[in-house]
Amino acid sequence: MKTPLSSSSSPASSSSLSSSLRKTRLSPYLFALLSFIVFVSILYGEDLVCIFGQQRQLRPTSPRPGPRTGELTRPSISSSNVEKTDSETRGARPAGGTIYEAAVDGVLRSSEQRKSGASGGEPVIPFAIGRGEEGCDVFSGRWVRDESARPSYEESECPYIQPQLTCQEHGRPDKDYRNWRWQPHSCSLPRFNATLMLETLRGKRMMYVGDSLNRGQYVSMICLLHSLIPEGSKSMETFDSLTVFTAKDYNATIEFYWAPFLLESNSDNAVIHRVTDRFVRKGSINKHGRHWKGVDILVFNTYLWWMSGVTVKILKGSFEDEVKDVVVMSTDDAYRMGMKSLVRWVQKNMDPKKTRVFFTSMSPTHGNSEEWGGEPGDNCYNQTTPIKDPNYWGSDSRKSIMQVISEVFSKSKVAITFLNITQLSNYRKDAHTMIYKKQWSPLTPEQLANPVSYADCVHWCLPGLQDTWNELLFAKLFYP
Ligand SMILES: *[C@@H]1O[C@H](CO)[C@@H](O)[C@H](O)[C@H]1NC(C)=O
Ligand SMILES: *[C@@H]1O[C@H](CO)[C@@H](O)[C@H](O)[C@H]1NC(C)=O
Ligand SMILES: *[C@@H]1O[C@H](CO)[C@@H](O)[C@H](O)[C@H]1NC(C)=O
Ligand SMILES: *[C@@H]1O[C@H](CO)[C@@H](O)[C@H](O)[C@H]1NC(C)=O
Repeated sequence: MKTPLSSSSSPASSSSLSSSLRKTRLSPYLFALLSFIVFVSILYGEDLVCIFGQQRQLRPTSPRPGPRTGELTRPSISSSNVEKTDSETRGARPAGGTIYEAAVDGVLRSSEQRKSGASGGEPVIPFAIGRGEEGCDVFSGRWVRDESARPSYEESECPYIQPQLTCQEHGRPDKDYRNWRWQPHSCSLPRFNATLMLETLRGKRMMYVGDSLNRGQYVSMICLLHSLIPEGSKSMETFDSLTVFTAKDYNATIEFYWAPFLLESNSDNAVIHRVTDRFVRKGSINKHGRHWKGVDILVFNTYLWWMSGVTVKILKGSFEDEVKDVVVMSTDDAYRMGMKSLVRWVQKNMDPKKTRVFFTSMSPTHGNSEEWGGEPGDNCYNQTTPIKDPNYWGSDSRKSIMQVISEVFSKSKVAITFLNITQLSNYRKDAHTMIYKKQWSPLTPEQLANPVSYADCVHWCLPGLQDTWNELLFAKLFYP
């Protein structure tokens, strides 16, 4: 079907959403989802108006020395470098654990890869220095209060956190959200070793690619590492969609590349990406992908931007075409198309003997407190404790999308390490930035009178939850 793409498109209001809803006769569940999406789109409007200094031309990609392959000598996680063990839960089944029992080892491999692994010895995994504990799903566990071990750094000690995420600076009254440590049910996580991480990155590039949630994880990684680097030998610069943190003495960079859909879209401008009518261009991954080439460790995410409705508009021609060739796809099919493009790009451009690719699953939001037994009309605002119900799963974390990821990645010829952070983050209704962040426009008296109405229940305070995502990345990088 051919649809002209008008520039003065009507804003995605809840009324237009509900009328399209009536047309398609969808369930109340989707209705709740849609109201959440309206809320998300409000939040994304102010996303990235901030930060990281001046804009410049995108840096030409410079050739880098070839990556070294990590030795596979150290046998397993030694007791000296593991987090405190929670002895009473060691080896225990997750409470009520039938729903989430699929203990994926994190690396989703194709059946051929598994076969060759079995017959031809262990495949060499770049950067691995040991193996994770047999049969342990590090993503299945619980939050343990541990004031002695968390937070890993202070907010005031990390100057790289964007004002969108500095909650203490913006008046958050409680601090407990920083004191939780993730404890897998049947093993312990290796302790995050910043020295090892930095030494490993010597002469290398690590890059996070995706949306503002991935940027939060990126900044968390820099906060976890930067104190080892003296002033004057580290810097952070932004070049259009690319932000580069450089550790000069290590000849290493940790980078973030803004591409909320991974594919080309009309939301790609790193500063002005508030668009009411979103289009994603099919088969366009190389547009951004050329900036990811030569990277040694890639960490992708993409999710929330696909969720602006029950369908996604896919552009088949180019954005320059006068009459746009647009097809409307279900969100699952559109997301599958995006995931397939990603896998093809990885197969074509990444050397599985020298590089690693990670994919972070969907980051949950907490926009409706009724889902965890709260009062109607409330959301993450004023939440100070994690959700205790081990089976809690917010409706905005679409299981069908999880299924799509699993299907597409399991057919990949190269291993993509899956960071399945959705469940553990779902418990953390207390970890969002809420109202404690830089507000980009003055608040109205109505808003001030009702903080729930402008609370950000999408992004996460730093230090906080996203440090754990990087601890899991660390675990899977060195002990896959
Ligand atoms: C550091 O990286 C640059 C390219 O980014 C390369 O030209 C140079 O040889 C590297 N130096 C060392 C000591 O590895
Ligand atoms: C951290 O890694 C470094 C470099 O590999 C190593 O020398 C050090 O012993 C490690 N620290 C801990 C606590 O394991
Ligand atoms: C926030 O929570 C505290 C204690 O749980 C309560 O006393 C207070 O009224 C709540 N504030 C709002 C605005 O809901
Ligand atoms: C991720 O974890 C959830 C909950 O633990 C599970 O239901 C889901 O199947 C996992 N996803 C994949 C792709 O393994």
